[in-house]
Amino acid sequence: MSVPASARERAERLRRDLEYHNHRYYVLDDPEIPDAEYDRLLRELQDLEARYPELVTPDSPTQRVGAEPLASFAEVEHRLPMLSLSNVFDEQELREFDRRVREGLGTERVRYSAEPKLDGLAISLCYEDGVLVRAATRGDGYRGEDVTAQVRTIQSLPLRLRDLEQGERWPALLEVRGEVFLTYERFAAINARAQRDGGKVFANPRNAAAGSLRQLDPRVTAARGLHLFCYGLGAVEGASWSESHSDSLARIARWGLPVSPEQRSVEGIEGCIAYHAAMAERRERLAYAIDGVVFKVDRRADQERLGFVARAPRWAIAYKFPAQEELTTVEAVDFQVGRTGALTPVARLAPVAIAGVTVANATLHNMDEIQRKDVRVGDTVTVRRAGDVIPEVVRVLPERRPSETTPVQLPAHCPVCGSDVLRAEGEAVARCTGGLFCAAQRREAIKHFASRRAMDIEGLGDKLVEQLVEHDLVADPADLYGLTLEQLSGLERMGEKSAANLLAALDRSRQTTLARFIYALGIREVGEATARALAEHFRDLDALIEAPESALLPIEGIGPVVAAHIQAFFSQPHNREVIAKLRSPSLGAITWERLAAPEDERAAVAATSSPLAGKTVVITGTLDRPRDAIKAQLEALGAKVTTSLSKKTDLLIAGAEPGDKKLAKAEALGVEIIRRERLAEWMGA
Ligand code: IVH
Repeated sequence: MSVPASARERAERLRRDLEYHNHRYYVLDDPEIPDAEYDRLLRELQDLEARYPELVTPDSPTQRVGAEPLASFAEVEHRLPMLSLSNVFDEQELREFDRRVREGLGTERVRYSAEPKLDGLAISLCYEDGVLVRAATRGDGYRGEDVTAQVRTIQSLPLRLRDLEQGERWPALLEVRGEVFLTYERFAAINARAQRDGGKVFANPRNAAAGSLRQLDPRVTAARGLHLFCYGLGAVEGASWSESHSDSLARIARWGLPVSPEQRSVEGIEGCIAYHAAMAERRERLAYAIDGVVFKVDRRADQERLGFVARAPRWAIAYKFPAQEELTTVEAVDFQVGRTGALTPVARLAPVAIAGVTVANATLHNMDEIQRKDVRVGDTVTVRRAGDVIPEVVRVLPERRPSETTPVQLPAHCPVCGSDVLRAEGEAVARCTGGLFCAAQRREAIKHFASRRAMDIEGLGDKLVEQLVEHDLVADPADLYGLTLEQLSGLERMGEKSAANLLAALDRSRQTTLARFIYALGIREVGEATARALAEHFRDLDALIEAPESALLPIEGIGPVVAAHIQAFFSQPHNREVIAKLRSPSLGAITWERLAAPEDERAAVAATSSPLAGKTVVITGTLDRPRDAIKAQLEALGAKVTTSLSKKTDLLIAGAEPGDKKLAKAEALGVEIIRRERLAEWMGA
């Protein structure tokens, strides 16, 4: 059946329009048409191609959804070899690199292109007459695997380069090199799903990206949501080169290819060092993994003069961040008891230095995690520490397991007080049922009570609280106010001076606010913001103590679970007793001012300590509570919550499955991205 000219033209038009809208959506994050309209155009093209299969072209947007599975990967020879980079690990070595470059060029100062070193896998993309014809993995650097069908599913990658009305046209042959990677969120989602379905769980985003790309069935790749940034050129024919590497990147970005928004041109070694320091800090806020930064001599003519050593260019260097993972062995698994009685398994490790810090303990999170990773005493494990998060056990090396190990058991009794340990159905967390009878819970409750955002008792640090509880001087927060100079100065590392200071601090803390007081009580899931909402709503502690569930639920941010925790807390005679002692004029003598109007209170918060004060915030993805509850809580902490991301936005809060567009845009705008775990800390949950 011959294809009518009208159908051919229409298909051509649809392909161009779809690709244009795809770029606006995935790369520029600035869609012009609603999704429904895009879907309609795509369907029209699919129908046309189904009717006239000759119309299907490799650059058709219909090909992104994933073609039929392949039997095997074909081998591809790279037009120019894909090289590697030499590494340096400290400033000294970087200075030596710069010295070699300057000597080689006979110049005083060199301009470099500075880029993150993306932790994914290298890919070579070949465009002929602007159409993506081949994508290949690095392989041995000379020959790789043909993964064209898989790479086509990457939404931000143009299947056809953009025609610019003004500006230069792309060369007849353009080979582009880049890195394929996964965001942390996609990685977590892929693993969560694999775990549920009994599939392969990946150790890190890089392995997951490689596993997703090397799928014979491109439909599987399509579902994984790979990303890509281009960082350089391979063979180019039929056009002149840019003068500099950074110009080349700017140019290919104009043709629609995704380039890291973190790329900068920097001057001299000082510029390199400053960029490295800035990226080391920024790293934690990126939505994807980087393992260092790459510096490239920017001028192409200079690159050519410097040439190559073995398989790496003399004009580029990777300055790696210190390794964040190391191997060590598990010597024991202990259970720590938290303020709410939650038992957290902790691996005691043979001490190991990771990125300059000695790590001897790592969290195992909960029993489900222990079982999933099958961590046992005696195992050799990979431990990861990233920034200031608690180190964690990543995985076990099963081949190094000694004989006769046994799985870790959840203790039946609290290791601190011997009370029963309960794990509610469907909950990952097991808890000690001892309540304030349990010294661990008592200690944690007192630490919380004294903390800066609660009663703010200066000088009453964790170590001191531990001593006070250990010596039976304090069993509940009210006892703090009965401490004497004598008792305190008898403690370890406590002179009379610091004892007197502490008493003065205790005295100062007596004058507080109702919100702080409620927060200080440490009711489960009542963080600072919820405490403030409760204070604003009830304005009086007795009203809160007696409040039935029906009076709690209308308050923003309080659902049935939190309401139940609040009621459970106030129904405990022990808790009521402690509160009475805290308020009694002869002991705690704690007072608070009558509350001002809610708006004033909010403004006061905004002006003070909250890290969110005055910040404009946007939320993406799912959080553990309804959006409007989170919004209210953020507002109570002084933030302004908006829906659209712009230059004015200070923070993007990323929940599970965040919008990729939003993340990319936030990154492009330099907006700080806060993951939900950090948010929970801020909100005191
Ligand atoms: S340039 C001739 N730039 O690192 C220079 N590589 O160790 C070729 N990589 O195989 C590489 N981010 O997969 C370059 N901004 C970046 C990079 C980068 C990650 C990877 C790449 C390469 C490996 C070399």
